[in-house]
Amino acid sequence: MSTFYITTPIYYVNDVPHLGHAYTTIVCDALARFHRMRGDDTRFLTGTDEHGQKVEEAATKRGLTPTQLVDQVAPRFDEMWQQLGLEGYRFIRTTSERHKAVVKTLWERIRKYNPEQLYLASYQGWYCVGCEAFYTESQLEKQGDQWCCTTHKRPVAWIDKERSWFFKLTDYAQPLLDHIEANPDFIRPDAYRKEIVSFLQGGLKDLSVSRTSFSWGIPVPEADPEGGKHVIYVWMDALTNYLADLCPDDGQITGPDVERYWPSALHVIGKDILRFHTVYWPAFLLAAKLPLPKGIFAHGWWTVRGDKISKSIPATRIEPLALSEALGAGSTLGRAIGIDAMRYYLLREAPLGNDGDFTFESLFGRFNAELANDLGNLINRSLTLVTKFADQVKPTRDDTLISQNSETPHFQIEIAAAEACRAAAQQFEAIHPSRALEAIWRFIGVANRYIDQTQPWTMAKANDPALPHVLWTLQASLWLIARLVAPVLPTTAQTIRSWVGDTTPLAWPIPTESRVLDQAPANLVASTPSPIFPRLDDKAQAAIVAKVLPDVAVVAAAPSATPDAGKPAPKPKADKAAKTEDGPLAPITFPEFQKLELRVGKVVKAAAVPKAKKLLHLHVDLGEPEPRSIVAGIAEAYAPEALVGKQVIVVANLVPATIRDIPSNGMILAAGDATILGLSALDADVPPGTRVR
Ligand code: MSP
Repeated sequence: MSTFYITTPIYYVNDVPHLGHAYTTIVCDALARFHRMRGDDTRFLTGTDEHGQKVEEAATKRGLTPTQLVDQVAPRFDEMWQQLGLEGYRFIRTTSERHKAVVKTLWERIRKYNPEQLYLASYQGWYCVGCEAFYTESQLEKQGDQWCCTTHKRPVAWIDKERSWFFKLTDYAQPLLDHIEANPDFIRPDAYRKEIVSFLQGGLKDLSVSRTSFSWGIPVPEADPEGGKHVIYVWMDALTNYLADLCPDDGQITGPDVERYWPSALHVIGKDILRFHTVYWPAFLLAAKLPLPKGIFAHGWWTVRGDKISKSIPATRIEPLALSEALGAGSTLGRAIGIDAMRYYLLREAPLGNDGDFTFESLFGRFNAELANDLGNLINRSLTLVTKFADQVKPTRDDTLISQNSETPHFQIEIAAAEACRAAAQQFEAIHPSRALEAIWRFIGVANRYIDQTQPWTMAKANDPALPHVLWTLQASLWLIARLVAPVLPTTAQTIRSWVGDTTPLAWPIPTESRVLDQAPANLVASTPSPIFPRLDDKAQAAIVAKVLPDVAVVAAAPSATPDAGKPAPKPKADKAAKTEDGPLAPITFPEFQKLELRVGKVVKAAAVPKAKKLLHLHVDLGEPEPRSIVAGIAEAYAPEALVGKQVIVVANLVPATIRDIPSNGMILAAGDATILGLSALDADVPPGTRVR
């Protein structure tokens, strides 16, 4: 039995999960499911990256301690993966004791094998807190007079002579080049291998691996003679998670799981974190005399209208559960089927490694053409035919029909089935899920044509003796398709299996020569299906858009013609505003605007409202004799103490209300929802009560 160990990046907890995070995790889940079906001893790891400046700053901003923040957000990731039905994953948190112990061991090993590999000096240079990375000016871009990070498009911070431990990365350029040359699959796809080879050929600089200007991290396990209090650089800490989950509790990097799984480790990552995984991580491992993972596979970014899906651009924040809920709304199987549809779209639309642009048009195009038409209709037609004739005809395989003539549809479908099993397996193994799906859909096309060619309803009328074989073939094709789609569409697979009465263990079928349908169990019993992927009409499409991106005008129109399977879905023709409550409103006149009394306020007191999760009771100074009492629905985004002293803009002439027995005399302006909420800001300290016009 082979082993297969697959990992996702561990996600920063300064943000709740979005579609970009779900993408990597779903890719790994699909690959893990495939390997389990192949009988491989499979381990699948994901988790959360909880230390570092970025998380510390996010906590401070919300008026929380880092521990409070990470304990709040880390479970949201685990919950999301459970709700998305991800199978058999392990979840690691970098604040766990075992992880911390393993990081310490890694540091000590690096020191033990060559003490000079870690030395004290001082760091001066640019740092992007978003990436938690040090940059030289040649790696940044200039916007106006500021250096900005190319990923976050935001100014980087200057670190001025911060005392730091350095890792002798310089020594590892050549060993890494040698390793990459000897193991061409170490970095995939090839374009990323080439990028890293040229980066290494340019030479490396030693890397600062500790920070002293903040404390939220794992302490360096040895004293600085000058008394500096160092925490380990968050990337050295985070990367170690991949090994830590295999190690025993004492933190030693050894033991049965390390031996069993580490040699097969495959890190699936986004292209933004390539250098950390393909240069820093293997260099740390070499320095600690530990074996390298088997490979790193980098995928591209999902964008919405060209912008990377990310926390910082609210218009791109697609929430995976909302998307799947909306996609499954028309099916009797609900969200579970919506999850399958979302997985299918993500894995089919963009070949792994390339960027993918999320558009509703391509999503609906694929849903209707490939899931509703190709797959849904095949299931429906096949089962309807088999059940319709069940009283007169027992589906029975007839080998003579296949061997007689290679031109017959009976022969063709046998060949196509075996070919689909082989090709899909090869593509899943090579980490090309989109190509695996293409191969499977080719077979779905053949199976649909088989019905058109054989016309079982005409055969029945003519009492054709080949009818039992045709019905058997339809049943066996569904048995096979359930298996082939199972890694990507687990609920669909389970549903098809129950409709054909397949209770045998879910294993990947291995063809013998050019036959595979003959492995279908003899005792399958078909039952009547219900529509699994009901077509999304204009109304359903509009409802999905409104639920998923209510604030954003993305493409809402239904594609007039559904694209053929295999061909790329059409690109949006033009952006049309989705009609939602938050869409553009009718124009107003200036006198109408003047009726709004907007004033600058300063929060002087803030407290939670008992038994109301979302509400805070504020006292806001509006330059009046007494501060105003205002109830605001911002408790999920702000701790009360973080608000005191903040300037806000208040609608001062709103009709007073009483909320939970508290008088509320005005409204605070805010943008967003509980996940990211910004209070309207002023860039100068303006006296309370000043009118905003
Ligand atoms: N914490 C680090 C990783 C440490 S691994 C030892 C980190 N975290 S992250 O939360 O910012 O992002 C992690 C990963 O999320 C990315 O590498 C990528 O795999 C995935 N994605 C986040 N946004 C994405 C898109 N818009 N599109 C595709 N994947 C995206 O970096």
